[in-house]
Amino acid sequence: MLDKEANELVCRTGPGTPGGEFMRRYWQPVALSKDVTRGGKPKAVQIMSEELVLFRDLQGRAGLVGLHCSHRLTSLAYGRVEDGGIRCPFHGWVYDIHGNCLEQPAEPEGSTFKDRVKHPSYPCQELAGLIFAYMGPADKQPLLPRYEVLVREDGTRKTDFYPINSNYLQNVEGAVDSVHFSYLHMDNWSKIKHKLAAYPKPKIEWAETDWGIWQYSDLPDIQHDTVDPCYAHFFMPAGFLRVQGTAANRHTDVKKFMSWYVPTDDTHMLRFQASFAPFSTHEKPYEWPEDKELNLPGPENDYFCDYDNVDTICGIPTRAPGTAIKGFLCQDSMVNESQGPIVDRSKERLGEHDKVLMAQRLMMLKAIRDVQEGRDPKHIIRDPAENVMFYVGRREALEYVSHPLLAPA
Ligand code: FES
Ligand SMILES: [Fe+2]
Repeated sequence: MLDKEANELVCRTGPGTPGGEFMRRYWQPVALSKDVTRGGKPKAVQIMSEELVLFRDLQGRAGLVGLHCSHRLTSLAYGRVEDGGIRCPFHGWVYDIHGNCLEQPAEPEGSTFKDRVKHPSYPCQELAGLIFAYMGPADKQPLLPRYEVLVREDGTRKTDFYPINSNYLQNVEGAVDSVHFSYLHMDNWSKIKHKLAAYPKPKIEWAETDWGIWQYSDLPDIQHDTVDPCYAHFFMPAGFLRVQGTAANRHTDVKKFMSWYVPTDDTHMLRFQASFAPFSTHEKPYEWPEDKELNLPGPENDYFCDYDNVDTICGIPTRAPGTAIKGFLCQDSMVNESQGPIVDRSKERLGEHDKVLMAQRLMMLKAIRDVQEGRDPKHIIRDPAENVMFYVGRREALEYVSHPLLAPA
C-alpha cells in the first residue's frame, strides 16, 4: 500500500507536480512516426496534461509545440504546415519546431515583435518508428536510451500504441505483476483451476538494477504441462520489458516486447509498444500481425465479455472478436481500468507476491525525491559510450534452455 500523499505524488504528472517533474526527465514516446507526414495535417496530442500539437515540417523534422497559438490561443491543430513551420489558421503566425515565431503577417513592416515571442516547444527524436519527446528542463536533457527493441537490425520489429482510460501507474503495475497471468489470462479456467492448485506456488525473484527492476518468475503452462520462465522487467520511469519464450520454443534468442506507459492526463494514458523478433528464432522473418480496425475494449462494450460462453474467470476471451486489440489486452484493460481512474493504494491489502510492486513504487518515489533535491533520477544516461545498446534479456533467453525446470526429460 501507499498512503494517500505518496500515491498522489507518484500518480500526478501535470506540469509543476513532483511526479510530473520526475517523468519529464526522460524521453517519452508521443506518437508513431507514420502518424505525421511531411507537410501533412498536424495532430493534437496531450502528454502529461499538456495540450500540444505534433507536426512534420517540410524538411521532414518532427515538431512538438504548444497546441494554443501564442497570439490568441487558437488551436494550431487546424493550422497548415508550410513556410518553415506551422501556420496558425487565425492570423497566420508561423512557428518552427523550436517554437521560434517566424512570421506575423499582419504586424507592421519592420516590427520585431515576432523575435520576442517564444512559443512552447519540446525536442523530438525518432527511433524505430516512434517519435520520442523530451519535456524536461533543457539543461537536464539526457540521451535517448538505445534499447535493443529499438535498434537491433537482425530481426523484424513492430511499433504500435493504444489508449487506456486509467492512471498510467496502475497499468505499469499490471504488467510488472506477473502472477496475474495464471489467473486473468488463463483459458479453460473451469478445468485448469484444479490442476493449478496442484502446482507449486509462484516463485518470484527480482533485483534492483541501474535501469529499474529485473524480475523472474515461474509460470505454470498447464495446457502443455510445463513451467515457463517469465521475465517481466521494469524500466524507469514507467516502462516494461517482457522476454517471451515457451518451453516449446527453446531458442537462444526470443521475442521481446517493450512498453512505455505515457500519461496523457492523470486518468488516461497511451501504451506505446516496440516488439522485436530476431531472425535466429524463426525459419523465415517473423511477420507481426497487422492491426486492422481498432475497436477498443472498454466499459461501453463490456470489454467483449461473454460470461456464459467463455471459459476464463472474467468471461473475456483471450481473443476478442471485432477488435484488433486482441489477445490479453482486453483483459488487461479491464482489470486496470476497473480499479478506478486512479487506484487508491491506501486501501490495498498486498500479499507476498506484491513485493516487487512495492519495490517499484519505492524506486519511483525515491527518483521523485532525487529530482526535488537536484540529483539525476535512476536510468538517466548522459555518456554516449554507455548508450551503445541495452541488450537486456540475453541471459534470460539463455535460461530458456538451461533453466532446471525446463531441462529435457
Ligand atoms: S491566434 Fe494564432 S495568429 Fe492569431
Ligand atoms: Fe496481463
